[in-house]
Amino acid sequence: MQLSEQALKKIDREVSKYPADQKQSAVMAALAIAQDEKGWLSTELIEEVAHYLEMPPIAAQEVATFYNMYNLKPMGKYKISVCTNLPCALRDGEKAAHYLKQKLGVDYKETSADGLFTLVEGECMGACGDAPVLLVNNKRMCIQMSEARLDALVDELQAEANAGGAK
Ligand code: FES
Repeated sequence: MQLSEQALKKIDREVSKYPADQKQSAVMAALAIAQDEKGWLSTELIEEVAHYLEMPPIAAQEVATFYNMYNLKPMGKYKISVCTNLPCALRDGEKAAHYLKQKLGVDYKETSADGLFTLVEGECMGACGDAPVLLVNNKRMCIQMSEARLDALVDELQAEANAGGAK
């Protein structure tokens, strides 16, 4: 068992929202909880979640591979998803991504040498009017990311990591 008691309790809470014979309805939330704890979803971890929800591992695997919020490889401490869908691309989304690539020394799907940042392309986050837009670790949305704001964000996350801050 890779998941902690605490993570299993959180999954139990999600499971309790559904009828007893439909545990697998909690699979998306359960995968997110597993990812929060381990940083990424290995095949073994996905299988563990599937067993816990009494569903076929392949069905959980399909969910994990379908949605891009799930990390199927180890990630840096901070996954930065820059929206490059068309509305954002037309309003400096690509430029922001390019700036981050230079600054962090990475391409998409790569992790910076210090292990802190993984850069990925994101899908529309519903904030097209505030482009460039990005998400940190699938949760924190940052808008209007000029180069100065990108610099400030990277500085902030580096300082948080150095201080041993939470993910
Ligand atoms: Fe980027 Fe919508 S296209 S937030």
